[in-house]
Amino acid sequence: MSVLDLVREDLRAFAGYASARREKATGHVWLNANESPWTSSADAGHGLNRYPEPQPQALRARLAELYGVSAERLMVTRGSDEGIDLLVRAFCRAGIDGVLIAPPCFGMYAVSARVQNAPLVEVPLIDDETRFSLDLTAIEDIIELGDVRAVFLCSPANPTGQALSLKEIRRLAKKATDRAVLVLDEAYVEFSSIGSARALLDEFPHLVILRTLSKAYAMAGARIGAVLGDPGVIGVLRSLQAPYPVPAPSAAIALAALSDAAQKESRERIATLVRERRALLKSLSGIDGVRRVYPSEGNFLLVRFDDPTAVFERLLKSGVVVRDMRAMPQLGDALRISVGTPEENATMIKALA
Ligand SMILES: Cc1ncc(COP(=O)(O)O)c(C=O)c1O
Repeated sequence: MSVLDLVREDLRAFAGYASARREKATGHVWLNANESPWTSSADAGHGLNRYPEPQPQALRARLAELYGVSAERLMVTRGSDEGIDLLVRAFCRAGIDGVLIAPPCFGMYAVSARVQNAPLVEVPLIDDETRFSLDLTAIEDIIELGDVRAVFLCSPANPTGQALSLKEIRRLAKKATDRAVLVLDEAYVEFSSIGSARALLDEFPHLVILRTLSKAYAMAGARIGAVLGDPGVIGVLRSLQAPYPVPAPSAAIALAALSDAAQKESRERIATLVRERRALLKSLSGIDGVRRVYPSEGNFLLVRFDDPTAVFERLLKSGVVVRDMRAMPQLGDALRISVGTPEENATMIKALA
């Protein structure tokens, strides 16, 4: 069985929209896409009168190099949010094929499932009071039943902070073979000591990895993410994607953010954030009213408080905005605090203490 047999049957032969830019024409008088022949006076040299490349080649090649895969295994997306949505749409028949998540987790998996009317199957994380972990046996049992077509794992996980070992991912990937696509969201992997699971892509064609420039590369506003996976799966997702998903200015800025110099700067900043995260874990743990700080492999910390409402409001009064987690399952007393600059972190600690 091929991973493509897991794709919705009605989409298997679907080629998507044949945009003017997809046709491989060459020429110097472009009259094929009903564009304006002039650039706007507001155009800062991007040539925005023309539609952009559907998959900006230079950016795709650079991202492939950064993530250690060949370009045919990578699709550029509007943030990893778009990758999540496309995966659910490609693999889940509305009202039939389930999406498995392990809450508390990033909210977009459930949102995309809801939009596709894919039944949501929740296997709660286990909190042993020092860290959260996946209930691997329960997930395996549900995969075995055959009702879920997409399993979303996040490593490091938002908002709980733990990372998955290759052994855990391999175990679930084995179980999901011929049953479901296993999506590993690595939005925060640059902050983790465990590293990416991309080496498993060759072994498991039904494994898909999501990456993003939104976090470690400081490009959240540019909306650039990537799906890494089997070339056949990438082809299916491409056919579902909007005709021109990546705005030209975003592609150009993202490419610049991946220059050697900019990457060096990002690596230094990642190191600073990891140091700050360790320091914050210590200082938060010593503050009155803090019940527990979970260790984190991301650029944030999940913190339980005796009185989270009072803390949230006190921080707001000092102008410090953190993420309220109280509506999430198991997190009724928790706030998630992103790691900021050393000065921002000091301001937050002062407001708390
Ligand atoms: C785990 C996780 N995945 C994906 C995303 C979305 O990232 P992007 O900006 O690439 O769409 C987020 C954003 O916070 C996230 O926490």
